[in-house]
Amino acid sequence: MPDHATGETGQVQAAQLYLAQSKAAQLLLSVLGGRSLDAVLAEADPDLIALGRHLRAVCRDLCFGVLRHHGRLKAVLRPLLQKETQPILGALLEVAAYQLLYTRTAPHAVVDHAVRAAGALAHPAVGGFVNAVLRGLQRRREELELAADGTPEGRFSHPEWWIRRIRRDHPQHWRDILTIAQQHPPFTLRVNSRLQSTEQYLAKLVDAGLPASRIGVHAVLLETACPVEQLPGFAEGWVSVQDASAQLAAELLDAQPGERVLDACAAPGGKTAHLLERTTDLHVVALDHDAHRLARVEQTLARLQLQAELHCADAGRLDDWWDGQPFDRILLDAPCTGSGVTRRHPDIRWLRHSGDPARLADTQRQLAGALWRTLKPGGTLLYVTCSLFAEEGPGFVQSFLANHPDAIHTPPAGAVFSDGWVLPDARHDGFFYASLRRLPVPA
Ligand SMILES: C[S@@+](CC[C@H](N)C(=O)[O-])C[C@H]1O[C@@H](n2cnc3c(N)ncnc32)[C@H](O)[C@@H]1O
Repeated sequence: MPDHATGETGQVQAAQLYLAQSKAAQLLLSVLGGRSLDAVLAEADPDLIALGRHLRAVCRDLCFGVLRHHGRLKAVLRPLLQKETQPILGALLEVAAYQLLYTRTAPHAVVDHAVRAAGALAHPAVGGFVNAVLRGLQRRREELELAADGTPEGRFSHPEWWIRRIRRDHPQHWRDILTIAQQHPPFTLRVNSRLQSTEQYLAKLVDAGLPASRIGVHAVLLETACPVEQLPGFAEGWVSVQDASAQLAAELLDAQPGERVLDACAAPGGKTAHLLERTTDLHVVALDHDAHRLARVEQTLARLQLQAELHCADAGRLDDWWDGQPFDRILLDAPCTGSGVTRRHPDIRWLRHSGDPARLADTQRQLAGALWRTLKPGGTLLYVTCSLFAEEGPGFVQSFLANHPDAIHTPPAGAVFSDGWVLPDARHDGFFYASLRRLPVPA
């Protein structure tokens, strides 16, 4: 649990905690109004840098923390608010409530600074109201938390429709899935196997004072997250940040030297790079329809000194990019709801709508159907989503098989898989994998 009132940079910045609270409230209002947290933080970064290192980190933690607990924070605050509250004050109260319930920040500092922030954001006269609400929360905490536990949104901090779907699709595991989404995500690295073994890099981490353990073929879990610049050899391409579940893609696709491989939805390029690190002499065609995101694939490959053929194109429109040469293997890391990675992107659960899984499942079917025509008979298409909704997992496979009699489905084998799912835990994000082989042409 962080303490926002102290930091390496000392008390000078802590004395300005209200600045981080006010900025976080403003950013949260944008996110809850419909914008992605990544976009909002990127746009605000010059202002955050101006706040100084400590307050910038506090502000980011406040945004992530509030979004992870937004359902519960709303529920505990509701009985304390007698009338409609200005949206910016509502956001500020959630920021302060998050600090009181989930951090070690001194409560008096949280309240005093929130009162000051309220004055700056709205009007000095509202300070008394903010003070009264937060003192009420401290006094009645137990009773308010107990009442919050009584509603699904208050208990699990996800929208009700989302909770219902996860419960329907994972009747044995839904509570764990929703609970783990409130935690910090693991910080996992992928060791570049072209340059050294996973064991060799682990030894370098230990030498650098960064305790870590091996959790996959190339995956290393750090005990504590740190800026990438502190990782040995990051700039030299020794290592990349990538979740252990995402690293399973290259292993399952198992591309062989000399093959032509399509990475149909490639940006920002984590899986493209892993394919190239893992297998030499691979011809990879990497597509993304978003030019801005495709530029990130280029940067990723440049840092790692890897090469692929990049095209900015809609993968489903074959006439726009396909030269007619079939692929041995295809990775379709399809656009999805991201419901398996809400611990990492806590805004997703509040930005998605109940119709999104079905809408995205349509897109996934269309993309896979078009790409199937570019696959060699006998070749494999690996379908991946970081979603836990059935429409985007087993539902996709069922409908694909019904429409493609020349496809054979092999669910992935291994201890982390259960019917194609990798369920989120302390080491893994939530993913779904399906390997679809195209029947060879009869001799
Ligand atoms: C899940 S992300 C891919 C992550 C990537 N494979 C990695 O490991 O770094 C999905 C990507 O698909 C792209 N995308 C969505 N629809 C597409 C389409 N029709 N054609 C090509 N790219 C598409 C998005 O821009 C996004 O970058």
